[in-house]
Amino acid sequence: MEERQRILAVDDAVDNLILLDRLLKRRGFDVVTASSGTECLTQSAMLHPDLIILDVAMPDMDGFETLKHLRQNEITRDIPVIFLTANSKDAKSIEQGFALGADEYLTKPIEQDELIARVNSILRISKAERRVEQLKADFQSMLVHDLRSPLSVVIGVLELGEKGEFDNHSQEVKDLLATALKNAHKMLGLINDILDVAKFEAGKVQLSKQPGDFNVVVEGAVGRLKMLAREKGLELIVDEDANIPNCEFDNDKIDQAVTNLLSNAIKFTPKNGRVTVRTYVKHFDGELPMLNGNYAAMDVEDTGIGMPAEELPHIFDRYRQAQTGGPHREKGTGLGLTIVKRVVEAHGGRVFVESVPGKGTKFTIAIPIG
Ligand SMILES: Nc1ncnc2c1ncn2[C@@H]1O[C@H](COP(=O)(O)OP(=O)(O)OP(=O)(O)O)[C@@H](O)[C@H]1O
Ligand SMILES: [Mg+2]
Repeated sequence: MEERQRILAVDDAVDNLILLDRLLKRRGFDVVTASSGTECLTQSAMLHPDLIILDVAMPDMDGFETLKHLRQNEITRDIPVIFLTANSKDAKSIEQGFALGADEYLTKPIEQDELIARVNSILRISKAERRVEQLKADFQSMLVHDLRSPLSVVIGVLELGEKGEFDNHSQEVKDLLATALKNAHKMLGLINDILDVAKFEAGKVQLSKQPGDFNVVVEGAVGRLKMLAREKGLELIVDEDANIPNCEFDNDKIDQAVTNLLSNAIKFTPKNGRVTVRTYVKHFDGELPMLNGNYAAMDVEDTGIGMPAEELPHIFDRYRQAQTGGPHREKGTGLGLTIVKRVVEAHGGRVFVESVPGKGTKFTIAIPIG
């Protein structure tokens, strides 16, 4: 048997609450009531109803204000809301309600059939949406997991071939194998990125923090990428502050973040450009929310193509790529910076970016020391 669906009815007028309660209970819903916006917020965070019916005109916190708060809270963000307006001609408040993310509206006096029809249709839609989200998530994680193991086999075989472990290998075959191997590694990288982002989103990332030397991680990443910079004809400058105190971080994750920033700088900087990597201690005095004390910081600054200011707020979104590449835009997936941001923020740190189109870009990451 299907679980009873829970509806939270919110109205400061007691008569109305009693009416809603009776009409909905009669149809088999589990009904909870609240007589103010504040009460609605606590109830909905605690009981997580399947639907909220929310009166617009209430003293203190009105329906609009309440809806705004509901939409800002991670826990209540996705609960569908039906607005209850006193006047069917009040087009303005209806419009305002939709703009704030209301899903439907009803007008007083409440008409029983209409109420039940709206409630049922909203519940149907929201259930279908949840199912689609779940299917998407399941499908993605299944696909990604299942792609990984056969690909490792392919990579293993290609590696043997490339090393000349099989008989009768012409140089041409070896070159072909090297190309196949390079692409297989690219594909594995992509699969791992998708998995990482999915894990961060599902809250399933556990950092394994150890005390370590920030400079060592940076040097490791620089070491792996300096050939790439040289091949592109870029000057790579490393300027480290040797006095950064040891701090606690997840070595692999920070390595990944540093690598992503560095590879972007190399990727988005044309020939003869310069990439500068700088480490130092950065101090915050509470001038920015949540940032206080000393941080191990790294700048990755390039003289590349840059990005327009209006792109900057979005570049950390999944699959987002700025419109600066032009026809020769460099290939990528748009997951690199998503991972950087998640990793750094999971450490209690922050990512900053400054960029001027045609001049260059500077990314800064800062993670707390101690
Ligand atoms: N140093 C940079 N200079 C100019 N643009 C940049 C720089 N770093 C990032 N960008 C812009 O931000 C976008 C997002 O970067 P991100 O690293 O997330 O994705 P990507 O490099 O395109 O792909 P991926 O890293 O997943 O292979 C890039 O596509 C590019 O438009
Ligand atoms: Mg990238």
